[in-house]
Amino acid sequence: MTAPKKRIAILGSTGSIGTQALDVIAAHPDAFEAEVLTANHNATLLVEQAKRFKPNAVVVVNEEHYPIVKDALRDEPVKVYTGESALSSVVQMDTVDLVLTALVGYAGLKPTIKAIEAGKPIALANKETLVVAGELITSLAREKGVNIFPVDSEHSAIFQCLVGEFHNKIEKVVLTASGGPFRGKKSAELKAVTKAQALKHPNWTMGAKVTIDSATLMNKGLEVIEAKWLFGLTTKQVEVIVHPQSIVHSLVQFEDGSMKAQMGLPDMRLPIQFAMSYPERLKSDFPRFDFLNYPALTFEKPDTETFRNLALAFEALNRAGNMPCVLNAANEVAVAEFLKDRIGFLEMSDLVEQCLEKMAFIKTPGYDDYVNTDKETRIRAFEFVKRIG
Ligand SMILES: NC(=O)c1ccc[n+]([C@@H]2O[C@H](COP(=O)([O-])OP(=O)(O)OC[C@H]3O[C@@H](n4cnc5c(N)ncnc54)[C@H](OP(=O)(O)O)[C@@H]3O)[C@@H](O)[C@H]2O)c1
Repeated sequence: MTAPKKRIAILGSTGSIGTQALDVIAAHPDAFEAEVLTANHNATLLVEQAKRFKPNAVVVVNEEHYPIVKDALRDEPVKVYTGESALSSVVQMDTVDLVLTALVGYAGLKPTIKAIEAGKPIALANKETLVVAGELITSLAREKGVNIFPVDSEHSAIFQCLVGEFHNKIEKVVLTASGGPFRGKKSAELKAVTKAQALKHPNWTMGAKVTIDSATLMNKGLEVIEAKWLFGLTTKQVEVIVHPQSIVHSLVQFEDGSMKAQMGLPDMRLPIQFAMSYPERLKSDFPRFDFLNYPALTFEKPDTETFRNLALAFEALNRAGNMPCVLNAANEVAVAEFLKDRIGFLEMSDLVEQCLEKMAFIKTPGYDDYVNTDKETRIRAFEFVKRIG
């Protein structure tokens, strides 16, 4: 008997991860079905996707676009919703088997909580959710018996190394980082870099926010926090190593000293597909890695003096409580303002550092504390931008 198709809700179907998830669904029509698709602004692409994949429902979060989407889909058997709260409702639909959180930023927090409350397994790309509220999310998932499957390539690598080893203790994990477009550069050279330069990632094509995060190494900092929560580790058990070729996607070291790594060409479709198909591996035509094309795989220490964001993420994690939430909110403002040419590349770290210094510490935050911390940090961050502008 063949397994029933997994019906997937893709939050953020118009983004980099979302569109690649739809490629995976298109390649495996017997395994997956797009049940819900959502976008924020990109009504045109959402409509195109809805006509092609025939989901049960779509959400266009930005209400201005609702009439366009509703009208364009009037002859299709697709329900059309709008507004932030619609995300929280669609993830709870009976017909949803798996929720892929491929939206960007803090906006992922609430729908992820709602999906877990409804007992839906999560394929998690939206790392910001675990950064903001890792303790709350993972304890809720444990309470509801919900699995969180990592989509981030590094965490997928660790997860793939752990399959068959879940009973064995992890000594440490090593997250690899490409180093981004400015690897090897010092602060003096980074002062005047432009957003066009920062948006040119050497190995991956991704959405704007995660690409800037990769250039500042904040992405790796967020991933350290994500790894802590996904795999139940202490801060000391998470290391970062720069690996410019992005072939070794991350490593696990077990208590006997053995290290396992997962390798492959950089292609997000693989971790997306594995998060959707686990425990099965599905045949794919993704390009294969050939050792002979890579005579040297190299590794180096991250430069946390120049790329201070990585050090700031470790600091936030060590301080714990609401500090990772502060880090995330400050960084979201910093990246958005950098993309609008209102602050410089190095000022992104200044802004995050200031917020970490100034925001009140809450040792054991609940959901409302996270909401308030996020809101207040953004206010402080905008004050900082005004001061230097
Ligand atoms: N891209 C990668 O290769 C990659 C790799 C690892 C992890 N990730 C993580 O995956 C997540 C998504 O990244 P991405 O690169 O795919 O981002 P992206 O290309 O910018 O796409 C973001 C998606 O989220 C939607 N969205 C944005 N703001 C929203 C809001 N406030 N409410 C609801 N929906 C919203 C966007 O809709 P519109 O298109 O309508 O604006 C779009 O569909 C991020 O957390 C990122 O860190 C990405």
